[in-house]
Amino acid sequence: MRIDILTLFPEIALAPLSESIIQRARDAGLVELHAHNLRDWSTDKHKRTDDTPCGGGQGMLMMPGPIFAAVEELRTPASKVILMTPQGKTFKQALARELAEETHLILLCGHYEGVDHRVVEQLVDLELSIGDYVLTNGAIAAAVVTDAIVRLLPGALGDERSHQEESFSDPALLEAPAYTRPIDFRGLQVPEVLISGHHAKIAAWKKEQALARTRANRPDLLDS
Ligand code: ADE
Repeated sequence: MRIDILTLFPEIALAPLSESIIQRARDAGLVELHAHNLRDWSTDKHKRTDDTPCGGGQGMLMMPGPIFAAVEELRTPASKVILMTPQGKTFKQALARELAEETHLILLCGHYEGVDHRVVEQLVDLELSIGDYVLTNGAIAAAVVTDAIVRLLPGALGDERSHQEESFSDPALLEAPAYTRPIDFRGLQVPEVLISGHHAKIAAWKKEQALARTRANRPDLLDS
């Protein structure tokens, strides 16, 4: 898989993707990751990429020229072009799984008040938000989306089972609480069932705890 991130801040996008599991996936050739500076496609002598909104309004918008030029240079018939924006569809684990099947993603990062809408109309296959809040910069969102996708690529996680048991594998339940050694930490005990060696009881306990946690933290998941 190849992922190209188009942004005014390539370092912001790359920093969290250059360590640990994602860097190892890159080193192993599971994903080819590139972050490009959109200024490189600006034809303006000051390398400008933004301008004021037509009809007035707050802030600055990203101009269509550099974005069209960059996407036209990088895309192939197999590419999926995704705009990171708080106006997008909410990113969920199910979508991460779908996107992990693609061969080429181009993640376009907004900045300022957003991008000229002709970009959305002509170039973008999917508008994507990582949640109901506004970031300063779509590069942060692109890093989040890339991380969630790359860790799903076969071989990216050492232990393939870690996918199966984690939150959101079962669409309606969060993960149960987990404990490690020492069994007694400052007088706080690991629940006895977890050291009982009784697999059926442990599974039942985990299910019950997962339900309680979901009810407390994410009741919306149980309604859906
Ligand atoms: N850019 C700014 N906020 C964002 C969000 N919540 N999701 C995706 N891109 C964004």
